[in-house]
Amino acid sequence: MLLQLQKRSMALAGTVMTAYLIFHMLSNLSFFSAPAFERFYDFYNQPWVRWPLLLLVLLSLAIHVKAALAIRIKNAKARRVGYKKHDKLHVPAALVSLSVALLLLFIVVHIAQTLMLDTNHVRAAMLDWFSATWMLLFYLAGLFILAMHLQHSLVNVLQTLGISSRMYQVLIISGVVLLTAGFASVPVYIWITA
Ligand code: HEM
Repeated sequence: MLLQLQKRSMALAGTVMTAYLIFHMLSNLSFFSAPAFERFYDFYNQPWVRWPLLLLVLLSLAIHVKAALAIRIKNAKARRVGYKKHDKLHVPAALVSLSVALLLLFIVVHIAQTLMLDTNHVRAAMLDWFSATWMLLFYLAGLFILAMHLQHSLVNVLQTLGISSRMYQVLIISGVVLLTAGFASVPVYIWITA
C-alpha cells in the first residue's frame, strides 16, 4: 500500500518535472530571437511567476528523490537474491547511483547559477556562460545524464503499466532526443559563434 503510494508520488513528481523541462527547453529556444527572449524572461522573472514555479520544481525534486530512495531501500531489503538479468545492456547499480548523484549536482549548480544572475540581463549572462568551453562541457555532460535518466525511467514506467510496444519506446527515445537537442542547441550555438 505504502509502496504503491510512493511509486505514484514519484511518478507524479517526475511528470511535473518533465513538463517543466519541456516548457524550459521551449522557452530557451526563444534565445534565437533576442526580443522574444527578453519578453519571455521579463514575464518569467515577475515574483509571482518565478518563485512559485521554482518552489514547485524543488518540491517535485524532493518528493521524487525521497520516494526513489525509499523504494530502493525497500527493494534491497526484500530481495536477497538478485534478479535474473535479461537486459541486453546491464548497467551496474553503482553506476546508476553515480549518474543520479551527478544529475542532482548538475541541477543544484544550475539553479545556484541562475539565482546569482542579474535578471535584467539574462541573455547577456547566457552569452557569457557559454563562451567558456568548460561551461559548455559541464552543461553537455549534465544534459547527457539527464537524457539517459529520462529514457531509462520513461521506458520503465511504460513497462510497469504493461506497455512494451516498440512504437512507444521509439516515441520516448525521439522525445528525449528532441528535448536534449533543443536544450543543447543554445549553448552550442553561443560557443561556436563566441
Ligand atoms: C542548456 C541547458 C539549459 C540552459 C541554457 C538553461 C538556462 C536557464 C536560465 C537562463 C535560467 C534563469 C531564468 C531566470 O531566472 O531569469 C534557468 C532557470 C532554471 N533552470 Fe535551466 N537551463 C538549462 C537546462 C536546465 C535543466 C536540464 C534543468 C533541470 C534539470 C533546468 C532547471 C532550471 C530551473 C529549476 C530554473 C529556475 C531557477 C530560478 O528560478 O532561478 N535547466 N535556466
